[in-house]
Amino acid sequence: MTPLHEVIINKRTTINPVWIMRQAGRYLPEFREIRKKNPNFIELCLNHSLSSEITLQPIKRFDLDAAIIFSDILMLPYGLNQNIEFKKNFGPFLGNLDLNTASKIDEIDFVEKIYPVYKAIKSVSLKMIPLNKNTIGFVGAPWTLLVYMINQQSPKKNLKKDFFKDDFLINRILLIIEKFLKVHIKNQIESGANIIQIFDSWAGLLEEKDLPNYVYAPTLNLVNYVKSLNVPVICFPREIKNYKEFCEIVKPDAVNIDYNVNPLMISKNIRIPVQGGLDPKILLTDKENLKKQVLKYLDIFKDHPYIFNLGHGILPETNPEMVECLVNTVRSH
Ligand code: CP3
Repeated sequence: MTPLHEVIINKRTTINPVWIMRQAGRYLPEFREIRKKNPNFIELCLNHSLSSEITLQPIKRFDLDAAIIFSDILMLPYGLNQNIEFKKNFGPFLGNLDLNTASKIDEIDFVEKIYPVYKAIKSVSLKMIPLNKNTIGFVGAPWTLLVYMINQQSPKKNLKKDFFKDDFLINRILLIIEKFLKVHIKNQIESGANIIQIFDSWAGLLEEKDLPNYVYAPTLNLVNYVKSLNVPVICFPREIKNYKEFCEIVKPDAVNIDYNVNPLMISKNIRIPVQGGLDPKILLTDKENLKKQVLKYLDIFKDHPYIFNLGHGILPETNPEMVECLVNTVRSH
């Protein structure tokens, strides 16, 4: 069994596997080299030989326990024919959502449009199996995708003023998102993904009263779907106030925590395996401080099934040497 499966499925507390959110990305010079020649980010994600190569770059450098496929949560709206561009220093910029088109898209057309993602998963997973490492597939949670599809860009702190104005429309979009998320998850698993992570990056934007409708119910539905395919599922409801309530209702196999929650409270209140937590900004400081902070998390979770990771994606300005230091510290613990 892989180290991640040992922790998630067998609840083993004597090992701490490690991988890093956004481990394939701009902090690596070899990624920037490829990116420079490929200005269109979506096209790069759809180039299966380059996306496999990028996925494997951090695995070649560091002793990580999993590869996460180089793709994006916004491949889903792309597959539903919503236009997407990534503007430098701005982030994603989405076109208008044409609901009439989106509601008529067949499963087969969606799969065909993003097929290279599955091809990349297949080739990466064939390399991971003999190394006893996992291949992580992922999706955005319905709420976070809804935010991007309606807001058309990262919401930063606030949503458009009239975001919730049209309930009926929102529910129609959510149903389409859920349908195609299942298709996307199923195809990733059939191609060799053996863990699924659900990123709810904007869960923290919602007021408590809206969580049941937009976060708990749709995520529970997806979690149950992943479980029915016999693959463990990790949820990351970033900046949600009450991780305990989330875990009790949604019941993922493991939960990734952000860096604003107190890890001590999490270790006391949450029974399921935990992943992550370290502030990515710590990697911008020095090695002594990094070691100290890594050991703090390992110590707090010493009697808990715990996967080492960050509390959000690694920052582009990170020195790869710091990642090496992080991995070595976890390994020699
Ligand atoms: O290594 C990995 O973790 C796998 C690849 C991955 C990417 N995006 C690649 C990427 C994963 C898992 C994601 C998830 C993702 N994408 C999330 C959820 C996690 C989170 O960060 O909250 C979200 C919200 C997105 C949407 C998205 N994609 C944004 C907001 C941006 C722009 C911000 C930025 O960092 O530039 C992207 C672009 C993106 N996705 C890049 C990468 C490597 C940068 C692309 C570039 O080279 O310009």
